[in-house]
Amino acid sequence: MPSVFKVFLPAQSPADASIKSPNHQSEILMPDLDPQRQAPDALMLTGFWYRALPTDRVHRNQLYKATLLEIPLVIGRDRLGQPFALRDSCPHRGMPLNCGRFDGENLECGYHGWQFDVHDGQCQLIPSLTADQNLKVDRIYAGSYHCEEQDNFIWVYIPDPPPPGAGFAPPTEPPDEAPQIEKFSAKYDLAYLQAEMPVSIDHGIIGLMDPAHGPFVHQAWWWRSQHSIHEKKKNFEPIPNGFRMSAHTPSSNSAPYKLLRLYADADSITTTIDFVLPNLRTETIRAGKYWFSSLTTVTPISRNHCRIDVVAAWNLFRWVPFVPNVLKFVFAKFVEQDRRTMELQAEGLKHNPHLMLIDDADRPAKWYFQLKAAHQESKRTGTEMKHPMPGPVTLKWRS
Ligand code: FES
Ligand SMILES: [Fe+2]
Repeated sequence: MPSVFKVFLPAQSPADASIKSPNHQSEILMPDLDPQRQAPDALMLTGFWYRALPTDRVHRNQLYKATLLEIPLVIGRDRLGQPFALRDSCPHRGMPLNCGRFDGENLECGYHGWQFDVHDGQCQLIPSLTADQNLKVDRIYAGSYHCEEQDNFIWVYIPDPPPPGAGFAPPTEPPDEAPQIEKFSAKYDLAYLQAEMPVSIDHGIIGLMDPAHGPFVHQAWWWRSQHSIHEKKKNFEPIPNGFRMSAHTPSSNSAPYKLLRLYADADSITTTIDFVLPNLRTETIRAGKYWFSSLTTVTPISRNHCRIDVVAAWNLFRWVPFVPNVLKFVFAKFVEQDRRTMELQAEGLKHNPHLMLIDDADRPAKWYFQLKAAHQESKRTGTEMKHPMPGPVTLKWRS
């Protein structure tokens, strides 16, 4: 069960900052936070690309299991190396297809030997049919999904669910390509990190965009301590399906940024951070001709489980011994600190507590919920999405 958030509005808002009655505006702002009113799949947005598996773990002619949005998948590469994703359930009687045999082209179910083309799921053969039984085999499909390889990951497009009772058909065409990391030079390094977390997609995402946990969770002598806490002011602006922390000079209280300024010999270092539905956080750091770019996603595995994948590309420190490894170490440490924190948080969430979001530190989290609600509303009504941010906003907090 997802937890219920209470929203505390800032004191200057029309209402005071006390707990609101159920029909107050603050509750209306986040209709999808009430588990009673929530459809089971409302937490996980369909109609988007999701990262499924790192490309280096998926070999030709082999089958792998993965779960996205509670959908069991079997993923693999055909004999030419092209990736595919099928629903891991035979359309005949539900046998997991990953238990079948794969010849690099067709997948044969282990129960009655029906064979499916792995790219579109179309049935190729039903061994039990006799010569005079004219069942149209090619009208039968196993569920299948569009796949793309992008920056170290196989991405799978999860379409909106078909109307109830509809059988499987060829995979739904995605409206766009899978997201990519922005790169600013021809040569760069690329690396990824993963961590699984026993919390819902919402907690995973708001944990990622939360500015106030830094001094408490990410303490390290080479980064910052609790004592380096100071007031910050950042400008945010609406972008399609999300929001941007406008280009700014990164926090002066961290050693790596001081080092970067020295190395790049650049007067200005700028960082831009974007969040875009359903789960994309992009961070770009530019210092002269050097750049670092990352795309972090939080992928819903099930209602109470998500996975964070950080993929980074950079052209700085490529030739300086050890530095890329040190960078990877730093990143891994950060992700591990977040993972550990959410593991502990999951303990507390088991008892379904009432939670709160405060201004300004939790405002990005509020925007996330509002964006999600606006997205769902626009889908429901077939109208254009109403962006919850009226325009640029400045937020202040201490971290
Ligand atoms: S369950 Fe797959 S062929 Fe029968
Ligand atoms: Fe963090």
